[in-house]
Amino acid sequence: MKKTVLSGIRPTGNLHLGNYYGALVNFVKMQNEHNCFFFIADWHSLTTHPDPKMLHTNVKNVLSEYLACGLDPEKSTIYVQSDVPEIAELYLLLNMQAYLGELEKTVSFKDKARKNPNNVNAGLLTYPVLMATDILIHNADYVPVGKDQEQHLEMTRNYAQRFNSKYAVDFFTLPTPFILGQNLIKIPGLDGSGKMGKSEGNAIYLVDEPKVIEKKVKSALTDNGPEGQNLPKPDYIENLFTILKVVSEQQTVDYYEDLWGRGEQRWYGSLKKQLAEDIIKVTSPIREKINDIKGNNEFLQKVTAQGAEKARESAAKTLKEVRQIMGFKKF
Ligand code: TRP
Repeated sequence: MKKTVLSGIRPTGNLHLGNYYGALVNFVKMQNEHNCFFFIADWHSLTTHPDPKMLHTNVKNVLSEYLACGLDPEKSTIYVQSDVPEIAELYLLLNMQAYLGELEKTVSFKDKARKNPNNVNAGLLTYPVLMATDILIHNADYVPVGKDQEQHLEMTRNYAQRFNSKYAVDFFTLPTPFILGQNLIKIPGLDGSGKMGKSEGNAIYLVDEPKVIEKKVKSALTDNGPEGQNLPKPDYIENLFTILKVVSEQQTVDYYEDLWGRGEQRWYGSLKKQLAEDIIKVTSPIREKINDIKGNNEFLQKVTAQGAEKARESAAKTLKEVRQIMGFKKF
């Protein structure tokens, strides 16, 4: 049975290799099996007060990157959150299902309030309500989320359930986290850390020029080589192999595994050169597409208009029923 899948992303930075293999590759496939909604959460990005001169550029960047990676506006509904005013109204209504005590206890809220004590705004507090609205307004069955978003999804289910029981209806679908399972490829950082991330400062971006990628890979943490045969690899070496397995041919991986197993020294230079080359092979066509799309405002305008129309149709339907359930009537 076709399910509704929904995912949002805040326009706060460029997509990196971890986003690509961890999420985008799967999104592209899901488009063929499910009814998918992919959107840019520009309202969510306001909690940190982005520069008005940058807001639109940030949206344009992520959108162009999404499209270049293969998200298809003919198969999926791809839209910008602020193009769908219905979300703002449902957000207001759902705020009545969200209790202050719970919102204050949310891990993401506490984290951000601690890190940024001068900007603990109400939007930050009710961030989970807006996210719940994004999900419930299309009655999404599945939401692909990482660990950091699981609590938000749980809160979404709470609001949905609370609404359903308060009004004695079976209206909102309780969304389930989409488990990408075996398909989930986690790309580690180049600095020996477990995860590639923007905030970790260890990321290779899809828009990085070949020279930049070469430099980043070259500076990855290594040592002098194995100190014997068939030893376990230290994390930072294992990480390079993990990325190699994703971007390179099997025989390339075998070749370097063999060098490691034999305990040979002084081949990390060659490994890094190969790794950079294979990463560039993956990212170059995407980078070129991103740049093409960014330069094609007519196309972006068409995609967002079409996405907004589809998203608004679905959202308006939900909102109309919510108003009815809650007792709003026209004179
Ligand atoms: N909070 C998500 C993040 O920071 C972005 C987001 C907003 C989202 N609304 C959503 C994700 C709805 C999934 C579903 O990553």
